[in-house]
Amino acid sequence: VNPIDTTRPTWPETRLSRLLGIRYPIIQGPFGGFRSQRLTAAVSGFGGLGSFGATSLQPDEITALVAELRASTNAPFAVNLWISTEDEAARGSDRAAFERSRAALATHFAELGREPPAYKPYLPIRFDAQVRALIEANPPVFSFIYGVPPAEVLAECRRRGIRTIGTATTPDEAVALERAGVDAIVASGFEAGGHRGSFLRAAEDSLVGTLSLVPQVVDAVDLPVIAAGGIADTRGVIAALALGAEGVQIGTALLACEGSGASSAHRRAISAGQFTRTALTKGFTGRLARGIANRLTATFAAPGVEILPYPLQRALVKELTAVAESAGRDDLVPMWSGQSAGLAHQYDAVAFLRELVADVEPLAQAVVSWIQAKPRRACS
Ligand SMILES: Cc1cc2nc3c(=O)[nH]c(=O)nc-3n(C[C@H](O)[C@H](O)[C@H](O)COP(=O)(O)O)c2cc1C
Repeated sequence: VNPIDTTRPTWPETRLSRLLGIRYPIIQGPFGGFRSQRLTAAVSGFGGLGSFGATSLQPDEITALVAELRASTNAPFAVNLWISTEDEAARGSDRAAFERSRAALATHFAELGREPPAYKPYLPIRFDAQVRALIEANPPVFSFIYGVPPAEVLAECRRRGIRTIGTATTPDEAVALERAGVDAIVASGFEAGGHRGSFLRAAEDSLVGTLSLVPQVVDAVDLPVIAAGGIADTRGVIAALALGAEGVQIGTALLACEGSGASSAHRRAISAGQFTRTALTKGFTGRLARGIANRLTATFAAPGVEILPYPLQRALVKELTAVAESAGRDDLVPMWSGQSAGLAHQYDAVAFLRELVADVEPLAQAVVSWIQAKPRRACS
C-alpha cells in the first residue's frame, strides 16, 4: 500500500508529521483489549498513524502483532502499552474480595442463565517483558499511558529510531514526560473514551477537559502536542490546532468504524447517537474509565459495591461481557465511549478520514500559521 496519494489535498507539515513520517497528523487512538489490526492498517495506509493497544498481549503475541502490522502496511504505525499493568493492591487481593465484587454481578449472571465465574489465582502481565518484546520487534512508534517508561527503555528506543509518544492528563505529567525524553505528548482531556491514564495523582484528581488541558500542555513543554478527548469531526480538529496542538488523536469516532475490533452492537451504539450520556467508572476494570452509561455502570455506582484492583476487576467483568455480548445484552456490556459519541456517524474509517481531511484542509494552514506566529502564552 502506498500511503501517499498526491492527488489528495495537503495538510501543513508539523513537527509531528515530520517526526512520525506521516502525511496527516491524525492518530487513531489505541484500543487496549481490542483486535484493531484492520483499522490500524487502514488509518496508517491513509496517511495518518494507526495504533494498536497491546496492553493485554503476552510478549510473543506482541512479536506476532508487529509482524502482522508490518505485513499489512508499509506506512508507520504505533504499538501502545500501559507502563503500569497492575494496581499495588492487586497482589494482596484475596478470594474473599473476589467473592464480594462478584456478588454485585450475581443478578446479571443469573439473568443470563450462567453461573458466576470461580475464583482464579492472579497471573500478572509484566510491562518489562512486554516492552522487551516490543523493542525487539522494532515498531516505528511506541506510545504509552500510565506513566514514564524506565530511562533505559527510552534510550533503547532512541538508539533504534523507535519514536515515543507519552500520554499526559495534566500539565505536570506532560513536563515529567518531557524531562524523561519522550518525542511527543498526547494531552488527553477527560472527554476521552477509555481509561484515564493519570500517573502523578489519582485519576479522579486529574480530570481536566481538553479545552483547558491542551493549551496549558503546549505552554508547559517544547515537544509536539497531540490533542485527544472529544475530537470527532472537523470542528474538533480545527479547535485542537487553534489550541496549539500539532496533531489529534481520535478514539471514539474511529472505534465506531469497521475493523476497530468493537462488536457491531457497540459500534452501532456509538454512532447511532442513541445514547446521550457517558459515565466514568472504575467498575469495568478497576481503573477509572469512560463508557456509555448503562445498567452495568449503574450497577457499579450502587452504594456498597466493591471494585477489585486493576486488573482483577477487568478479568471478572470480561467473563460477564463474553456472555452478555453473545446474548445481545448491550445493557450489561462495557460500552467504551467518549463524550463525543453523538458526533460519530461513519462506519468506514477511510471515508471518515477522507472527509475530515478535505474539510479541515482549507483552514488548517491558516490556523497553524496563526498559532505558530504567536508568542508563547499570548492570548490576544
Ligand atoms: C475502547 C478504548 C480503549 C482504549 N485503550 C487505550 C489504551 O490501551 N491505551 C491508550 O493510550 N489509550 C487508550 N484509549 C484512549 C484512546 O486511544 C484515545 O486517546 C481516546 O479515545 C481519545 O478520545 P475520544 O474517545 O474522545 O476520541 C482507549 C479508548 C477507548 C475508547
